[in-house]
Amino acid sequence: MLQAFIPRESEPGETRVAATPETVKKLIAAGLAIAIERGAGERASFTDAAYTAAGATIVADRKTGLAAADLVLQVQPPRDAGEQPKAGAALVAFLYPAARRDLIRRFAEGNVTTFAMELIPRISRAQQMDALSSQSNIAGYKAVLLAGDHLGKLMPMLMTAAGTITPARVVILGAGVAGLQAIATARRLGALVEVSDIRPAVKEQVESLGAKFIEVAVKQDAEDKGGYAKEASAEYKAAQAAALAKKVADADIVICTALIPGKPAPKLLPAAMVQAMRPGSVIVDLAAEQGGNCELTKPGETSVTANGVTILAAKNVPALVPVHASDMYAKNLVFFVKHLLKGGALNIDRNDEITAGCLVTHGGQVVHAPTAALLTQGVAS
Ligand code: NAI
Repeated sequence: MLQAFIPRESEPGETRVAATPETVKKLIAAGLAIAIERGAGERASFTDAAYTAAGATIVADRKTGLAAADLVLQVQPPRDAGEQPKAGAALVAFLYPAARRDLIRRFAEGNVTTFAMELIPRISRAQQMDALSSQSNIAGYKAVLLAGDHLGKLMPMLMTAAGTITPARVVILGAGVAGLQAIATARRLGALVEVSDIRPAVKEQVESLGAKFIEVAVKQDAEDKGGYAKEASAEYKAAQAAALAKKVADADIVICTALIPGKPAPKLLPAAMVQAMRPGSVIVDLAAEQGGNCELTKPGETSVTANGVTILAAKNVPALVPVHASDMYAKNLVFFVKHLLKGGALNIDRNDEITAGCLVTHGGQVVHAPTAALLTQGVAS
């Protein structure tokens, strides 16, 4: 029987866990035996007793769990060699190959088969395994709550005996998965929402959520074949900045979610734009991990500008919602593991688009071509 192990995450600030009692049951039903490191679900409110009741075995430490595991399921990549699965075992986690080349080399040398959750192709067939989407969705929601919590104002319009309170103005940059959820959340709280995205295709989605799309007069070829944004032309950037300037100056909250795959986050909020905002306004920069959409963002920190604008730039926002972030991630993993299973074993079918798309190391080699190129040619990440 395939033995799977779920360790307690050791990355600082990581509160999520790769299995919940509910997904343990699903994995057992799929034919796996499940071992959980003691306390693995503690920070996401899943107790060892709940995992045991679901049919898992609790192991006292990571070393014991790794020694017996054919399959290791994690959120974050292992931090050092001591956390690496045994030779011949498989690991499924976020792996960040471009940033963690040392780790990828060690996996290949140690003959560990690894799958990067962030590389699962964004195709319809793989939607249930799409952890980037499930976690972005949560980040988009939480970003609005964080902003609301730091704002000294209410969000909705309130008509009271003491007078009328006008609704908060929210500008959202980027209407991908996180941005669309941020729009929906801000609208539910009663805010007026305006949105900028380089892909004109999202205008309809933005409007269907009750928000206004900020038009940019200059047109550009904005989308690649996969539906992702391309980098904007200088002409587009200037026109977008002009369109944004007044909206941002009037905003109580700006939520930044704009990303271009494989590139630093586009800088959409220069310092001058932030300086034109009112004191007490709040920026939440979800793009912080890729450098941020705001020029003044300090990734991982909360800062306040000289003119009194708070900039929140937490790096791991899904970890601030550990229960549902774990729940959704763990479900993504169940769909992926089931996709791999054949006759009770992991079937590494390199002709399958999903498997091949996220398989990073296998048989002692780095088999993911872009990652192999990064390692051999030393291409900058
Ligand atoms: P993302 O996180 O890469 O980017 C977020 C948003 O930022 C995107 O909407 C992008 O257009 C926007 N953006 C980039 N540069 C910008 C700029 N200069 N100004 C304003 N906005 C800018 O995107 P995410 O959330 O991963 O999804 C992007 C798209 O990927 C989706 O809308 C969809 O087309 C596709 N997708 C497909 C899935 C599937 O088929 N399974 C699942 C999820 C996404």
